[in-house]
Amino acid sequence: MLYIILLMQLHLSAVMYTWSVSYSPETICAFEGSSVDFSCSFEYPYSHTLGTLKWFKPETYQKQDGSHEGIVVYHSNAKETNKLYQNRTVYTNQDKNCSFKLHNVSKTDIGRYFFRLTTNSRYGKFTGPGGINLNVAVLPFRVTVHREKANGHIHEGDSVTLTCGLENCTPKQGPFAWFKNKLLLPHATESELKFSFVSHEDFGNYSCGLKNSNRTLTNETLLDVRYSPKNVEITVFPSGEIQEGDSLTLICKSNANPAVTNYTWFKISRTNVSYVGCSREYSIRVVSQTDDGQYFCIAENDIGYQNSTVLTVTVLKVEEPGHQHFLLAATGALFFGIAVTLVIFCLVKRRTQFATKRLTEQVCVCISSDQRPTATLTEEVYENLRKMSKPEFEENLTNLTYAELMLPPTNTDRPRHNSQEDRLVIYSLVRNNEDH
Ligand SMILES: *[C@@H]1O[C@H](CO)[C@@H](O)[C@H](O)[C@H]1NC(C)=O
Ligand SMILES: *[C@@H]1O[C@H](CO)[C@@H](O)[C@H](O)[C@H]1NC(C)=O
Ligand SMILES: *[C@@H]1O[C@H](CO)[C@@H](O)[C@H](O)[C@H]1NC(C)=O
Ligand SMILES: *[C@@H]1O[C@H](CO)[C@@H](O)[C@H](O)[C@H]1NC(C)=O
Ligand SMILES: *[C@@H]1O[C@H](CO)[C@@H](O)[C@H](O)[C@H]1NC(C)=O
Ligand SMILES: *[C@@H]1O[C@H](CO)[C@@H](O)[C@H](O)[C@H]1NC(C)=O
Ligand SMILES: *[C@@H]1O[C@H](CO)[C@@H](O)[C@H](O)[C@H]1NC(C)=O
Repeated sequence: MLYIILLMQLHLSAVMYTWSVSYSPETICAFEGSSVDFSCSFEYPYSHTLGTLKWFKPETYQKQDGSHEGIVVYHSNAKETNKLYQNRTVYTNQDKNCSFKLHNVSKTDIGRYFFRLTTNSRYGKFTGPGGINLNVAVLPFRVTVHREKANGHIHEGDSVTLTCGLENCTPKQGPFAWFKNKLLLPHATESELKFSFVSHEDFGNYSCGLKNSNRTLTNETLLDVRYSPKNVEITVFPSGEIQEGDSLTLICKSNANPAVTNYTWFKISRTNVSYVGCSREYSIRVVSQTDDGQYFCIAENDIGYQNSTVLTVTVLKVEEPGHQHFLLAATGALFFGIAVTLVIFCLVKRRTQFATKRLTEQVCVCISSDQRPTATLTEEVYENLRKMSKPEFEENLTNLTYAELMLPPTNTDRPRHNSQEDRLVIYSLVRNNEDH
């Protein structure tokens, strides 16, 4: 019985003479500029009278166990408080409650904070062990891109993770908000945005932050997914009907990253697929019936290539006097110097029929690979058979029985002044018409 009473007394005295400080939480991660609550309570021997109370933060080079006091963050004697903290701390000042609030935290506040109390007793000094560790997250958030393959570019199918984080720590104040090209991604609320198989559609600028807080929004980070050309299609200028004599431009459009380096144009006429061009635009200055056909382009970049769908070009015939047509063609030869027009004029029995052979040259400046036609000079022979509609012209021509022109050889080293002869032929033909 006596033993039990003794034990109780010992226990009681242990409570009454104990020293303790309890902190909560042990670590804090706060945004720069925010306010932080340090929760704390303490016990001291009841027979003592409280003396001074203080919070201190050891300097980074000092021991972080409470044995070095460093900077005085709060002191019950206000004058003792360090200037850096003077107007930023709010101490609770209740019995056995040592909580305090620190406003406008900055990077310089990073460190471990301890509470220390003294009493009127000679040995009445106590520092709560452990302390509270404060880390300050410096805004803004940063989007960091992590990928499986450490080096090189990101390609379609790669596994990619975007992380929304800060320099030191990331406060647990979610949910997070993610933006792609400034538009909110409503289902992304984690600090990480994962792409198991990244697609070309994921290419774009990403930013992140905390929901309902514009302040935390990051600068944009480009998710640079590389992909072969997509959506290759042909745009036609002018749109609508195309008539003989019009100019026509076909543009090969696509979406690719990196940009398309090689374009190739093909024309399908009957079963023949021929190579016609190698730049983004394929232009025909003066459209004729022979340009009628189907066209497609191939867009190629470092990653791969894609064909466009086939475009059908239908050239509408224009009814006009035949000689005017020849005059136009001849003028064209004069001005551009690239088109050589040859005329074959035949009169068979009492029907008028023109056989026109027009030779155009198209100079292609690109250097083709081994698989492509190696010639840099493409020659195209346009044939045009026309029936004359004007009866008077028909009559004029009846006297001419036969006319024959020698076609110049079609090899590329043929002298250019041949066009001069062609024009002479055209003029003599026209004069024949007018003389009658
Ligand atoms: C704290 O505030 C007082 C009055 O508001 C001011 O006089 C004093 O200069 C301030 N101290 C610091 C360190 O900013
Ligand atoms: C201590 O003071 C703070 C701030 O006034 C308060 O939130 C907290 O509940 C108090 N703690 C105790 C144990 O009373
Ligand atoms: C917060 O502290 C920074 C320096 O760390 C200062 O420039 C800023 O004016 C302070 N903001 C407020 C609201 O006191
Ligand atoms: C991404 O941002 C850069 C720089 O602000 C801009 O040039 C680019 O067009 C943006 N890309 C997209 C897909 O919005
Ligand atoms: C964000 O962009 C601004 C202006 O473009 C620049 O001054 C700032 O340094 C950038 N911030 C980060 C964290 O990259
Ligand atoms: C296909 O067209 C090209 C160019 O127009 C020509 O050189 C070639 O002989 C043609 N092939 C056939 C089988 O018609
Ligand atoms: C694409 O163009 C580049 C540079 O002009 C050339 O080296 C490459 O061989 C071309 N590729 C093909 C398939 O034509």
